[in-house]
Amino acid sequence: MTEFYFKMSGYIFFPSSQNKIQHWCSFWQAFYGNSFTFAQIIKKSIKMTGNITFTMIKPKAMENGNMGKIIAKIIEGGFKVKALKLTSLTKEQAMEFYAVHKERPFYNGLTDFMSSGPIVAAILEKDNAIKAYRDYIGATNPSDAEEGTIRALYGTSIEANAVHGSDSDENAQIEAGFFFSKREWV
Ligand code: CMP
Repeated sequence: MTEFYFKMSGYIFFPSSQNKIQHWCSFWQAFYGNSFTFAQIIKKSIKMTGNITFTMIKPKAMENGNMGKIIAKIIEGGFKVKALKLTSLTKEQAMEFYAVHKERPFYNGLTDFMSSGPIVAAILEKDNAIKAYRDYIGATNPSDAEEGTIRALYGTSIEANAVHGSDSDENAQIEAGFFFSKREWV
């Protein structure tokens, strides 16, 4: 118990690393629950400050012959390709990848679609990669995506929105690990 208090005061008074701040937020969240929105906001922003994101070029964009243009556009945007592969997903693999959406009405259609043809999977590097890439690709629904973004240019529907982009540092690591072993990163 003494060690616990000692540790917690360390986190509170000397939050010298992001990890410590994250723990500090978790500690206060445990006390204040969901009403402690300040901690939640800090925690969320901390989770999105890494330099790695994961993307897939979706089957429809591949079928439409846009693979090369999308890769070129990603590089033009200052994202460094750390790993890249042409591959495909089985229905089961797509279900596993998108398991976070399994209660959503679009889950079955999305996983059918994602297993309908070849895809490109890639790990990308840039400062603040999650936010930078999500801004760069545009809104989930291509019809809401800002002009010039990848989804506005190459997306054809909310499902076939040209590319996937991770929504947090934690998910980027999980998604990258779904397709790539560490040996496949440069
Ligand atoms: P993606 O970035 O791959 O992450 C989850 C995907 O679910 C998202 O892109 C969309 O393609 C899809 N999606 C999200 N909302 C809907 C919706 N309302 N209807 C169909 N598909 C959706």
